[in-house]
Amino acid sequence: MSARVKQRLSKARLILREEGRLALFKKALVSLKQALCLYSCYNIYESALDAPPVACKVNDLVLKLVTSEKEFEQIGNDYLIGEGFNIARDKELLRLGAVLYCAFIGNELIHVTQIFVSRRAHKIYPFSFAMPFGHTVGLAAFTTPNYRRKGCHAYTRSKALQYLREKGSSRAWDVQNKDNIAVRDSVIKLGYYLWGEGCRLRSFSRFTLEWTRPKMPGASRRTRFLLRWGKNYQSAD
Ligand SMILES: CC(C)(COP(=O)(O)OP(=O)(O)OC[C@H]1O[C@@H](n2cnc3c(N)ncnc32)[C@H](O)[C@@H]1OP(=O)(O)O)[C@@H](O)C(=O)NCCC(=O)NCCS
Repeated sequence: MSARVKQRLSKARLILREEGRLALFKKALVSLKQALCLYSCYNIYESALDAPPVACKVNDLVLKLVTSEKEFEQIGNDYLIGEGFNIARDKELLRLGAVLYCAFIGNELIHVTQIFVSRRAHKIYPFSFAMPFGHTVGLAAFTTPNYRRKGCHAYTRSKALQYLREKGSSRAWDVQNKDNIAVRDSVIKLGYYLWGEGCRLRSFSRFTLEWTRPKMPGASRRTRFLLRWGKNYQSAD
């Protein structure tokens, strides 16, 4: 059974256990509809990596930079990993050259932030246009529900941005659905600004039509061009 099917089955079991059969049926219908045709709008955020670092508000939080699948597997052996983390996807990202910042309290993994430092890793998400301008951080960051609103994401992402700065990057991006208020508020506080917005029409999970619109007043023609046709360009960093 493929990792993706396993992931879906475990998600279905979780919904069945926590929300019941009707909720599972409704969610299955929504997924089917999305597979046939999915229209979504998202915000594109940019950071010049110049915000001051964020202090950690949680006692005993330990942060680790994970760069290989093997290290991540070791974490699976050594720590408790709660529901909601997408371990299969994070492993695949590592295989494709992304790196992860993992946060722990005691023997529990409580947060993961991804840094897409490779073009191959970006291909998991359909936002590859962002790569020409810098690296994308946190597209699928996750904090375990018991530890939300305690500053884990802010602290970990701030460390991830510092990592990029130290590696010589000058910019970072994030792309998030417009209705994800938690991420919007969180990244704005970390010094990102709304660069633009985009829409995506996807059908049968294969055919994708995507268009983007810069919102920043000073966005140069070159940047606009790269944003539109960026897949063909090398990273500027
Ligand atoms: C988005 C997410 C990672 C935030 O993690 P977190 O550790 O709770 O975030 P933090 O405690 O560091 O929050 C930092 C800031 O983000 C904003 N924020 C976080 N959660 C919020 C929410 N539910 N509603 C509104 N603002 C929120 C707040 O401004 C917060 O600062 P404050 O608590 O001082 O007001 C977490 O809610 C999550 O895992 N959500 C599900 C997965 C997801 O949507 N990921 C998106 C990809 S980044």
